[in-house]
Amino acid sequence: MTFTIVEADRPLRGVLVGAGFIGGQWAPELLAHPGTELVGWVDVAEDRARTAAAELGLDGLPVSASLTALLDGEEPDFIVNCTVPQAHHEVTVTALRRGVSVLSEKPMAVTLEEARSMVAAADEARRLFAVNQNRRYMRSLVAFRRTVAELGPLGLLTSEFFMPYREGRFLHTLEHPLLQDMAIHLFDAARAVSGADPVSVYCESFRPGWTWYPGACSATAIFEMTGGLRYTFTGSWSAPGHPTSWTGTWRAAGTLGTACWDGAGDPTAEAAKGHVVRSYKQEADPFPGRRRYTGLAEGLEEFVTGLRTGRPPQGDCHDNIRSLAMVTAALESARSGTRVPIAI
Ligand SMILES: NC(=O)c1ccc[n+]([C@@H]2O[C@H](COP(=O)([O-])OP(=O)(O)OC[C@H]3O[C@@H](n4cnc5c(N)ncnc54)[C@H](O)[C@@H]3O)[C@@H](O)[C@H]2O)c1
Repeated sequence: MTFTIVEADRPLRGVLVGAGFIGGQWAPELLAHPGTELVGWVDVAEDRARTAAAELGLDGLPVSASLTALLDGEEPDFIVNCTVPQAHHEVTVTALRRGVSVLSEKPMAVTLEEARSMVAAADEARRLFAVNQNRRYMRSLVAFRRTVAELGPLGLLTSEFFMPYREGRFLHTLEHPLLQDMAIHLFDAARAVSGADPVSVYCESFRPGWTWYPGACSATAIFEMTGGLRYTFTGSWSAPGHPTSWTGTWRAAGTLGTACWDGAGDPTAEAAKGHVVRSYKQEADPFPGRRRYTGLAEGLEEFVTGLRTGRPPQGDCHDNIRSLAMVTAALESARSGTRVPIAI
């Protein structure tokens, strides 16, 4: 599906929707990008948007509790959807139906049904709709991805995520906090690194006796991926010691060798007997000297390039929905106790 590009010779007009934690990280990116202009900020709690704008010295910036009023008044080219996941569907579809493109925070939606209707809304409106999976732009993940590409056809990919995390208060309200909140980062990384798509999953989500969460904060999942690859994920929000990095620890095994990555530094690789494999190092920071949240500047750059040239960004909705499908199928498997086929 193609989307309409913006040809007007002026910066792209962007509106932020949601003035919470991540909205506050996106605002400086829209201000710093030479090709974008921040023209408004929406939050159902209007004061929050006003305060956030004032903190950045943007006292004259239009703010509103009404998305439609700000869209009609400012006529932006795009919004950045920084609302809570439960509001992603409504906010995104409202913008698309007004002909406004959308760059959204993860996850695309809460359910696959919602996500399908958002993709259909983007196609009907012929507008770009993408989800920014910020970890795809981690320089160490890019180095691991390149190293894995050296291994030939992959057979196994494993990731472990262990964090003794207590702060996230909303995690205490979720039935499956690991699968519903965190897992999408690792599932999407697995797709990015392997180039494979999910076929089916068997998953158990559970609550170890020592945990401080009321919900199932730990999980193990086995995905069958295209090409016969098996991707396994094991993780816990209640790690009793030995935490991993925030992107987990990884191992990929292919015909020509094995690559390992600690989720933060440079990957390592070891060739199978009789073969040679190369391991890549992280490249230099493309935005040196600027304090910033990982992967937002890169995601905005790809989105702007997409709106100008028609080249879809990595997080294009038609692709990103497959990462969400891994989450929703894992949840279905955990609830039903069965292996679940993954259909988009
Ligand atoms: N990529 C990352 O590393 C990362 C990190 C944190 C959060 N996130 C994602 O960003 C999103 C927001 O998370 P957060 O931590 O900023 O949440 P938050 O609760 O701090 O902020 C969300 C804001 O959205 C507003 N809001 C809710 N519904 C709205 C609606 N319909 N219209 C307008 N505003 C609305 C709320 O009033 C609130 O101010 C979530 O989807 C989360 O998963 C991603």
